[in-house]
Amino acid sequence: MGRYRVEGGYPIAGEMETKGSKNGVLPILAAVLLTESEVILHHCPLISDFFLTLEILKSLGCRIKRDGRTVIIDASFADKSSIENEIVQKMRSSIIFMGALLGKYGEACVGYPGGCEIGVRPIDLHLKAFREMGVTIRDEKGFIYCTSKSINGVKINLDYPSVGATENILLLASKAKGQTIVYNAACEPEIVQLAEFLNACGAKITGAGTECIVIDGVQRMHGTEFTIFPDRIEAGTLLCAAAITGGEIHLKKVKPDDMRQTLLRLDEVGCKMIEGQNEIYLKAPRVLRPVDIIYTGPYPNFPTDMQPQMMSVLTLARGTSIISETVFEARFKHIAELCRLGADIHVEGQTAVIKGVKKLQGCHVIGRDLRGTAALILAGLSAEGETVVENSQYVERGYEEFEKTLTALGAKIRLEKSGDRYNEKEDTFTTR
Ligand code: EPZ
Repeated sequence: MGRYRVEGGYPIAGEMETKGSKNGVLPILAAVLLTESEVILHHCPLISDFFLTLEILKSLGCRIKRDGRTVIIDASFADKSSIENEIVQKMRSSIIFMGALLGKYGEACVGYPGGCEIGVRPIDLHLKAFREMGVTIRDEKGFIYCTSKSINGVKINLDYPSVGATENILLLASKAKGQTIVYNAACEPEIVQLAEFLNACGAKITGAGTECIVIDGVQRMHGTEFTIFPDRIEAGTLLCAAAITGGEIHLKKVKPDDMRQTLLRLDEVGCKMIEGQNEIYLKAPRVLRPVDIIYTGPYPNFPTDMQPQMMSVLTLARGTSIISETVFEARFKHIAELCRLGADIHVEGQTAVIKGVKKLQGCHVIGRDLRGTAALILAGLSAEGETVVENSQYVERGYEEFEKTLTALGAKIRLEKSGDRYNEKEDTFTTR
């Protein structure tokens, strides 16, 4: 693990290409298990979650070659249907393999994913849908054992438009007998991307991106060559970096339509933006304006994954803003740290009231989750003096060489590796 040392006061300026989407590539890597010939993926993000997921595929018997951001995977050699528990504990999103393993073998064994820094993260909607499709589920000693004699297409009505549950259903339904219809499905761009990949491998999916998705199961699926979409959250984070430092940025390899709510809110705080087909130019205002209220919510609402970063921007707006976090119950851990930097934020339950201040003062802060730690770095870019942000491992999960990207855009930031260990449960550090 390590810490970021940020010297504030240097406006973000320049041009950057967005990397491949973390939340797009992970379900696609699981989907590769359903194919019987080589898959080539381009524009993969070189982040720790990507490498951990490749480790899972290797542990299942897949053959993998990688050249930079292109990875070639042959799942026809895969012969295992269970995932080692220590990997699941390292990365809870490995639960996405359940649907793929069931689709491939008719059985799966995955360790129960723990909660994480932003909430309990239950998987009841995943398991309920699997049972409706004919899967028998037993959980024992922290493992989930799934078996099924035959997977049948059914009508599924999700109690909540869960991204992961929708993805797991798409993976399993692609190889089910008959037709599956998912109502109240998640509409995120990552769902569209997964469906595009699966269809390129021979699946029959329509309606992805809407609340109603129809999947006609197929017997076999083949490989394909596919380019991962840009990461809309990395792009939004870099736009916020320019906004909070009074800078300007020209982002390439982005899909503005996938970031509409983020762009509308950046416009509301006073940023001037010009959009192209796959690019966005943003110039920050001299003085940031507040917003009345932002509710995070399922797509196309304002993304919860942009909540901490937008909050950092609003700490310097001339007026009071409100953010209500409706998706995750513990996604405000960056607020105490922002207040240490001089922000004026008051929390009532799931609602934060942000009173803009003139300046932030650099100091030592602790990151406690992926997007919250990125938000602290953004605040440090603008704060007076030096800000030290602990727990770089969170950022390294979801942003490829974040400090190099920001340095290339004019920031003064460096990553300092340290032998310290951080105990999440006790929120303590031990220096080795
Ligand atoms: C995905 O998580 C993303 N992760 C998250 O990004 C993102 O914040 C989230 O979708 C919402 O957009 C990946 O794609 C790897 P959900 P996921 O299932 O699938 C409740 C980041 O920072 N729920 O849509 O876990 C759940 O508790 C990460 O990149 C159930 O109650 O999100 C939460 O309140 C963080 N039961 C809400 O639904 C279930 O079975 C949304 O969860 C599943 C979910």
